[in-house]
Amino acid sequence: MIDQRMQDAINDQLNYELYSAYIYYSMESWFRNKGFLGFANWMAVQIKEEMCHAQIMFNYVTDRNGRVLFKGIDGPNNDWDSPLHIFQAAYEHEQIVSSRINAIMDLAIEIKDHATAQWLQWFVGEQVEEESNTSEIAGRLEWAKDSPAVLFQLDTEAAARVFTLPAPLVAAAAG
Ligand SMILES: [Fe+2]
Ligand SMILES: [Fe+2]
Repeated sequence: MIDQRMQDAINDQLNYELYSAYIYYSMESWFRNKGFLGFANWMAVQIKEEMCHAQIMFNYVTDRNGRVLFKGIDGPNNDWDSPLHIFQAAYEHEQIVSSRINAIMDLAIEIKDHATAQWLQWFVGEQVEEESNTSEIAGRLEWAKDSPAVLFQLDTEAAARVFTLPAPLVAAAAG
């Protein structure tokens, strides 16, 4: 059985993962509209990751005989003025996600919920990757400044990103 406070915290975060997907959907649409099909692909992969994060949380709460309760999802921003600003916003968003994951870990330690602390370790590592991915692209876009050639090159590189199923869901699929 899962502690009520922990169930509430994971439910909040599950909602926030869906909100993350909403943000990245909005960013994908901006890129498609502007013809940046590589960055649009990058966002499409990111949306799948966020949906997986929510699924991992759904599975965990369910496995602990808890209940997942769904709430309304806030509307995302829809307006940016450049690819740089989008990736800067993505990096800022991922830093918020990291601090939220850390807060859940703090709670797990406080209430001695060892199972959740162990399970949550995967998300701690994932957030290092999420921050690194978004900040790296934001940094390169900063360098590209107003160079259309470099921007086109970065967009082409982003087209190569492919989705891979996150490890906790691979394990779940294997039973
Ligand atoms: Fe996430
Ligand atoms: Fe990721």
